Amino acid sequence: MTAVRDAWLTLLALVLLLPAVAGAKDPTVSAVPTVETFGTLPDGREVHRYTLAVPGGWRATVTDYGAILTGFVVPPREGSGGRAVDVVLGFDTLAGYVAKHPYFGAICGRVSNRIAGGRFTLDGRDYRLATNNGPNHLHGGTVGFDRKLWRATPRLSDRGPAVDLELVSPDGDEGYPGRLTARVTYTLVPGGELLVDMTATSDAPTVVNLVQHAYWNLAGHGSGTIADHELVVHADRYLPVDATSIPTGSFEAVAGTPFDYRPERQPRGRVAEALGKLPPGAAPGDPRGIDHGYVVRGWEPDGRPRPAAVLRDPASGRALEVFSDQPGVQVYMGNFLDGTLVGKEGAVYGPNAGICLETQTHPDSVHHPDWPSQRLEPGGTYRHAMRLVFTP
Ligand code: GLA
Repeated sequence: MTAVRDAWLTLLALVLLLPAVAGAKDPTVSAVPTVETFGTLPDGREVHRYTLAVPGGWRATVTDYGAILTGFVVPPREGSGGRAVDVVLGFDTLAGYVAKHPYFGAICGRVSNRIAGGRFTLDGRDYRLATNNGPNHLHGGTVGFDRKLWRATPRLSDRGPAVDLELVSPDGDEGYPGRLTARVTYTLVPGGELLVDMTATSDAPTVVNLVQHAYWNLAGHGSGTIADHELVVHADRYLPVDATSIPTGSFEAVAGTPFDYRPERQPRGRVAEALGKLPPGAAPGDPRGIDHGYVVRGWEPDGRPRPAAVLRDPASGRALEVFSDQPGVQVYMGNFLDGTLVGKEGAVYGPNAGICLETQTHPDSVHHPDWPSQRLEPGGTYRHAMRLVFTP
């Protein structure tokens, strides 16, 4: 009798253990991210690409060049018979990212977005920065954080596979004061969440505003435009800009304007509503869509995550909810994409091929002492946590 019972128990143990054993060999199970060589920089340094995978087919790829999110694969909804889709615009090779491109998937810094005239004053000293966007400074300058090689460490965190990236930006880098250490961690959480945790410390007073600049297209990165996507922006006010995209200084109500993507709207607003319909001067140069900062509803400087935006592809039902602890979000509808860039799998990225939902402090804050500050003191820590929740 005992022998029979033991045999049953052994069998039971085997049945229970088998999936775990098989799982260990299954690349889609949470594990330390895998690493591969992504290419070599002109100066000979090797660039890597990390793949974060969790059960169900979710996958994020990240490179240490620019701390760029090169891909994000959303698996098909269970039982839908659909296909897995990569929802991030980008390139298959390092060469694409080394060539000129509009910050695809990158972490931008030291101060992303614009600084009017490329100048600011800190503690009575004037600083001059590169004017790489008309008369203004954009996304950290000529060689911003998106063009630096970060030091990467892959690991399995308690939330899921993660990559820690670290960049030391020396004192005077691109004209900014202070030696700044920036750290970004990408974590893929089982079930379809991507966490982007950004911090920075400095040995002298400086300014910082890091953004994650992924272009999303929930129908697939090469599927055409995001015009049909539903959009929610958790904001009652936006930042009007001048002819060079610098905020004029006021926060205006979105109600009754093409900037209205408030969550109450039923049915939800579509990206298409804003395309080509902005008031003159609202989107300088090329009014093909929104490229503006919004004031996140209910923001307080308490470090708590709040909803910033929701994007949904009505055809597939795929959705992305963006949460962050930042006071603002820049909504950029890929207005300047013009079809000259050939991306992953030969995709051609034309106008509005993707949308950026860049949580951050308000653009040009260095010139608005009454806005949430971009200033960082030695001994202090800049923090920016983003949580991207996907629905397959
Ligand atoms: C940001 C800016 C845009 C544009 C893109 C990159 O989102 O707000 O105006 O410069 O980056 O092309």
